[in-house]
Amino acid sequence: MSQSYNRGLVEDFGRWREFTAGMWAWILHKFTGWVLVGYLFTHIAVLSTALPASNAASGVIAAETDVYTTTLQGLESLALVRVLEVGLLAVAVFHILNGVRLLFVDLGVGLEAQDKSFYASLVVTAAIVLASVPTFLEGVF
Ligand code: HEM
Repeated sequence: MSQSYNRGLVEDFGRWREFTAGMWAWILHKFTGWVLVGYLFTHIAVLSTALPASNAASGVIAAETDVYTTTLQGLESLALVRVLEVGLLAVAVFHILNGVRLLFVDLGVGLEAQDKSFYASLVVTAAIVLASVPTFLEGVF
């Protein structure tokens, strides 16, 4: 005889209060993975301004008035972009640390300490991101 379980309503978003560390790790890994994929498109769009810049005269490059340099200078002058860069670092560092943690779990290493290693990923991510803030936000406000 098969047993049935009451899994609750999928639409019941209030269930987030019952989530365990493993569920948050799963959600954060998915979220950060797809944010990184989304960022890839922005990254390619910005870097592709190097193509017209590569045809610019050397004087234009030296004067830093080519489209690649002015695009980057324009973006970096915006406080919003600087703050988003800090967010991108947070997303990337967490995804890498949690990803390496998951690879160890897949290898059967640290199975008994999964909650602790997840919290360690969060703490190390926070430390690296906080340490980066002075560099990322230098001179923007
Ligand atoms: C050192 C770098 C990275 C490591 C160690 C890593 C590790 C992992 C691991 C282990 C998974 C599978 C998680 C699972 O078991 O469900 C995963 C999923 C994923 N990663 Fe990464 N990753 C890295 C970099 C990246 C980058 C650069 C991107 C995007 C450009 C990315 C995008 C994704 C996406 C979209 C998923 C699937 C998320 C889902 O479940 O829907 N990862 N990553």
